[in-house]
Amino acid sequence: MYTRRQITTQERLQQQEYCERVKSLIAHRPHYALVDTYGCQQNESDSEILRGWLVQCGYELTTDEDKADLIAVNTCAVREHAEKRVLGNVGALAHKKAKNPDLLVCVGGCMTQQPTMREKIQKSYRVVDLVFGPHELWQFPELLLKTLERRGRRGNKSRLIAGEPSDGVVAEGLPRQRDGAVKAWLSIMNGCDNFCSYCIVPYVRGRERSRHLADILAEARELIAAGYKDITLLGQNVNSYGKGLDEPVDFPDLLREIDKIPGDYVLRFMTSHPRDATDKLFRVMAASEHCAHHIHLPLQSGSDRILKEMNRHYDRAKYLEKVASARRYMPDLVLTTDIIVGFPGEREEDFRDTLSLVEEVRYDAMFTFIYSPRTGTPAAAMPDPVTRAEKQVWFDQLLDLSNRISGEKHAAYVGKTVRVLIDGETGQTPYNLSSRTKGGRLVHLAGDPALVGKFLDVKITDSTTWALYGTLA
Ligand code: SAH
Ligand code: SF4
Ligand code: F3S
Repeated sequence: MYTRRQITTQERLQQQEYCERVKSLIAHRPHYALVDTYGCQQNESDSEILRGWLVQCGYELTTDEDKADLIAVNTCAVREHAEKRVLGNVGALAHKKAKNPDLLVCVGGCMTQQPTMREKIQKSYRVVDLVFGPHELWQFPELLLKTLERRGRRGNKSRLIAGEPSDGVVAEGLPRQRDGAVKAWLSIMNGCDNFCSYCIVPYVRGRERSRHLADILAEARELIAAGYKDITLLGQNVNSYGKGLDEPVDFPDLLREIDKIPGDYVLRFMTSHPRDATDKLFRVMAASEHCAHHIHLPLQSGSDRILKEMNRHYDRAKYLEKVASARRYMPDLVLTTDIIVGFPGEREEDFRDTLSLVEEVRYDAMFTFIYSPRTGTPAAAMPDPVTRAEKQVWFDQLLDLSNRISGEKHAAYVGKTVRVLIDGETGQTPYNLSSRTKGGRLVHLAGDPALVGKFLDVKITDSTTWALYGTLA
């Protein structure tokens, strides 16, 4: 049963003590740790916490597997493809361990929350020393310490398979090693209550729980004061932010409160469930100073019949109404989406409905996936007569359409001057800098690396399906 449980300050400080104990265990020589991340932004954000803990435990971070004394893999379970990649890479670590028996392999993230997968790792992936779930991130030092202390015991006894599913944990004040100095993730909630019939996320991430408004605002202020310019609020469904909190607050309220913090920065968010995207949200976005005029609004399918089977709680007409309303408030809105091709029972006419909706909406960018059955979800038990090869044909058609529309939309920027945030270096010439428009479109340009972190006007000179190219105006 779900109960919200906020980790106490005392519990957190206790973890800090475990960090000190790990530190003393590894103090005799430098130890290096590598964190390998799969999956969505939520996982990237969690990996920052993992790195934060590792640093507090005395490890130095590395990206060199051969140098690593500890490799932590933060896994994703959303599609079979992601799982296979993870298992392949974890399996391959056996060679590294043969060379370096002291190597510690830790597996965390969403895959560990599936009972069959835990069993599989326990039985067939002996290379793994520690398994822990996303809700146990706050107590990683304790689990790491136990694993180190068990070391040297024979056989299975030396391994620690934690990660029993448990709901409702909210932890504040954990250390974090952020990936960059310009862009930052700001997780506002965890879990998902939507149970779309194809999706594993609610099973592996637990029930939806929001952070307190004050905690989020404090973190946003810190980020802005530290010079971060591009802040993305994260949640599986940000639009239901606030549900279950004592304070009466919803997502548009949260946006409005963050927007009041002065400074030169862009505020983004991911992801919005179309059912919960309201006019209030669009109004607040349109009126805000910092909010990007971008919505990622996953459609999943353009067929009413399939949307119902997916348990999405909207139909084609409602979705189109939301898009029209959002565009009325923000004529410059950049709209992106996710679409699943080949959901069980999808027929040619359903797929045509998806194509026609895509033609009608004209997304700036689309993320398309072939349906992947996930054990334990309702869709995995539905009859699925269409072959993989037939689904691939649909997928390719959708991708062609998506590329054509993105290409056309990008081409329309050529000749215009747009304001961008320079967010990094590409390592390529002549376009050595990467940047994003406020709507999130990628713009490559040439310039001094010292410009990273600056907002500048760029004249767009060229475009492709995926990116824009420009020169400083
Ligand atoms: N919470 C987010 C996204 C979660 S997963 C949201 O609701 O939008 C990201 C995307 O993966 C989903 O939008 C969906 O398009 C895709 N996806 C999820 N489960 C899938 C499955 N079983 N097979 C194929 N694609 C899937
Ligand atoms: Fe999965 Fe649906 Fe929740 Fe998104 S809203 S994480 S697709 S169950
Ligand atoms: Fe994957 Fe977990 Fe994210 S399943 S998509 S890493 S929430």
